This record gives sequence, structure tokens and C-alpha cells, in this order.
Amino acid sequence: MPDTITITDDRTGKSLTVPIERGTFPSSALRELDPSLFLYDPAFMSTASCASAITLVDGDNGILRYRGYPIEQLAESSSYLEVAYLLIHGELPSQEQYDRWVHDVTVHTYVHEKIKQFIDGFHYDAHPMGVLVGTVGALSTFYPEAKEIFDPDCRMKQVVRLIAKMPTLAAFAHRYSVGQPFVYPNNDLDYTTNFLSMMYQVVEPQYAENPVLARALDILFILHADHEQNCSTTAMRTIGSSQADPYSATAGAAAALYGPLHGGANEAVIHMLKRIGSVDQVPAFVEAVKRGEGRLMGFGHRVYKSYDPRARIVKATADRVFEITGSNPLLDIALELESVALNDDYFIGRKLYPNVDFYSGLIYQAMGFPMEMFTVLFAIPRTAGWLAHWLELLADNEQRIARPRQKYIGPDEREYVELPKRETGAS
Ligand code: CMC
Repeated sequence: MPDTITITDDRTGKSLTVPIERGTFPSSALRELDPSLFLYDPAFMSTASCASAITLVDGDNGILRYRGYPIEQLAESSSYLEVAYLLIHGELPSQEQYDRWVHDVTVHTYVHEKIKQFIDGFHYDAHPMGVLVGTVGALSTFYPEAKEIFDPDCRMKQVVRLIAKMPTLAAFAHRYSVGQPFVYPNNDLDYTTNFLSMMYQVVEPQYAENPVLARALDILFILHADHEQNCSTTAMRTIGSSQADPYSATAGAAAALYGPLHGGANEAVIHMLKRIGSVDQVPAFVEAVKRGEGRLMGFGHRVYKSYDPRARIVKATADRVFEITGSNPLLDIALELESVALNDDYFIGRKLYPNVDFYSGLIYQAMGFPMEMFTVLFAIPRTAGWLAHWLELLADNEQRIARPRQKYIGPDEREYVELPKRETGAS
């Protein structure tokens, strides 16, 4: 069977045969048939917007790989910073490269003192995710040279800065929201422990680290580091395609992550479990979802049509965390919900399985993170993925400014009517 597709324009009888390569065919074929013909594809359900060598998601088989490495192996043996290096540079680092990378990230964890004043300007109960979006964007004004996006050294400097400063900004956003003084980075600590220290250090001179919890958070960071062309990454690429600086693009990507259908789902899951209240209420809740009264948050995915491999790892990680923190009382409701949904025709038929957000919120809650921080905890590690895609975009000669077309469904041309002569206005 030839690996080609033939498209015929029945209006003209014109036909064109084009190759199918890696499950895609070039949309330019349509333009060749008729330059005014476009594919109508809301939400990009059938559109591959780029060629990417970063992450593979095989949704039918529940496979996730970063640069070819299975997520299970990375979660088992790697660290978040090593994974960030892999995503950014394409290969795992040598020991020397790794040491240099960790050093570079570590010495860039501090933020300008003015950032503290900037955060001070937010309302006292500002959502930390809103604070993060604002402060990441503000960083572009502190590093105006970041506009030099075609200078490779300058570009890499901003990549390091962003990966290094996200935990600091995230922790500052939290400290501000609870009225506690900011804790400066402690560069003697590793990436994740330093973040926990900035979050939780209160009176003691040093945050009392728990290696099991720090490792659990590092694993969650690895799992969230990239997920190919999701909503926020697409936002990153779209903004990046206009040649904006990476801080502005990252702020846009973080804003896209904020929504409850994307990174906000982990917070929404906890709200949902609390609303359900007890295990015996689960069947009634599932029935309500089936009647269309809301969604089962943390379930379903545009690409995964089998169990999300990240959810499996999160579930195993949760067991280790709960051994230390004691179980989260909402866990029983979550387990029952999963069990009922996985045996229900509505969810089976639509191939709806738990996604990464179903159990991650329970871990975050057990570790003492307030719910408002959950999406922030997603944004910190996803920064490496966003930046890897931004770098790939800039090196891709096939990319131009993102500019989709539309199917115009508005009125045909009509005459402007002077205000006093108008009979009816818009309702
Ligand atoms: N609960 C109940 N029904 C659902 C759900 C759900 N969570 N997700 C999808 N469906 C139903 C939906 O009603 C539709 O049914 P029908 O065909 O009868 O109209 C069908 O399944 C297909 O849904 P869709 O909305 O067309 O699917 P999508 O690919 O556009 O949406 C999704 C993907 C993730 C937005 C959606 O599954 C959802 O809203 N899930 C809950 C939010 C969530 O957990 N988001 C986190 C995603 S993973 C982390 C990340 O990458 O952000």
C-alpha cells in the first residue's frame, strides 16, 4: 500500500497525491489545489502544527517518552534538573555537563530585590498563579537583553535564569499570599529541597528537609516537565513565533496553564473530592457527571485514550508520601471514584482514564501545599518543556509567525446607518 493520500476537489476535478510521513501530510497540498481552501479544525483536533523531536506521547498505548527515554525510567532514576537538561539540549549530560548545569541553575536562583516590591503591589489574597504569571512577565523588563533571541549565548542565559527563578517566584507568591516574609534561596540545597525551604522555612534557621518528600516532589516535577503540544506549550510557541522574549512567552504559557481544563485541573480535583464528601456519595456523583452536570476532573485527555502513564507513577509515589505524612482522607474517595468510573460504560466508551492530575493534588495536599499552589507546582517544571519547545521553534526554518485562518460566518457587506436612524440595536 503506498504511503500517500490523494485529495480530489470535486468542484474542479483536480486531484493531488501527497506523501504521508509519520502520520501527517502537508497542508500545503490543499493550497496547491485551491489557495483559498483551508482545513476547518477547531482546537487543532487534526492538526500537527510543528515537527518536534522533544516528546513522544502515544495516547493509544499509554506511552510517554522525553527525547526517546521512557518516562518510567526517568522517574525512577533521573532528577528533575537532569531531565530539564535532556529536554533543552536533546541528550543526557555527561557528569561534567551535569555539574556545570546544576551550578549554573543554582547561581541564578535569586531574583532582583525590586521583584519583592512588585509582588507587594498585588492584593493580599491574590492567587499565587496570578502572581506567578505577572512576575514571570515582569522579568522581561529586568533582562531587556532577552530580546536578543537569535544570540545563542543570550538565549541560553535566559533559559537558565527562567528554570532557576521559577521556584523562587513560586515560593515568593505563596509567602506573600499567607503573609509570611520571603525566604531567599539557599544555594547549598538541591533544586527541589531549596524550593521546599523557600516555601516552608519559618523560624528555624534551616528548613528540616525530608529526602523522601523532596524526592517525591522531584518525581512530580519530572512527570510534569513536558507533554508535547498541549495548550500552554502551544501558547509558548505561538507567542514565541512573533519573536517575543522568552519571559513574555513563558508568562503567556503559564496563563494558558492556569485554566481548570489544563494545569488548573489538579486544584479542581480536590474541590471535586471535597464536594463529594464521602465514599458513599461517589455513585450519585458519577451519575450526575453522566447526566452532563459537570466533569469528572482529573479524568480524560485529548491524546491518552488509555491509562495516562504519569498517573500510574503518581499513584505509586502517593503511597510513599502517605507513609510519611499519613493518608489523605480524600484518597478513599478518589480510589472509589476511579474504581466506579473505570467500570462504567460511559467512561469506558469514551476512553476516559485518570490523568496526571487525578492523584497529584492529593500528594501536594498531604505535603502541606495549599490548593492555590497546585497549578504553580505544575508551572515550575513545565518551564523546561516550554523553553525546549521555544528553542526548537527558533531553530525551525519551516516555522513562521503563527497565524491560523478562519471560516468567516459574519454578515455580508452592509451599509453603515447613522445612529439616530437605527431602528434596533444589538441586544
Ligand atoms: N468527565 C466526564 N466526561 C468527560 C470528561 C470528564 N473528565 N472528559 C471528557 N468527557 C466526555 C465529554 O463530555 C465528551 O462526551 P460526548 O462525546 O458525549 O459529548 C467526550 O468525553 C469527549 O470529550 P471532549 O471534551 O471532546 O474531549 P477533549 O479531548 O476536548 O478534552 C479534556 C480533554 C482533558 C479537556 C477533558 O477530558 C476534560 O475536561 N477533563 C477534565 C479536566 C482535566 O482533568 N484536565 C487535565 C488534563 S491532563 C493535564 C494537562 O495536560 O493539562
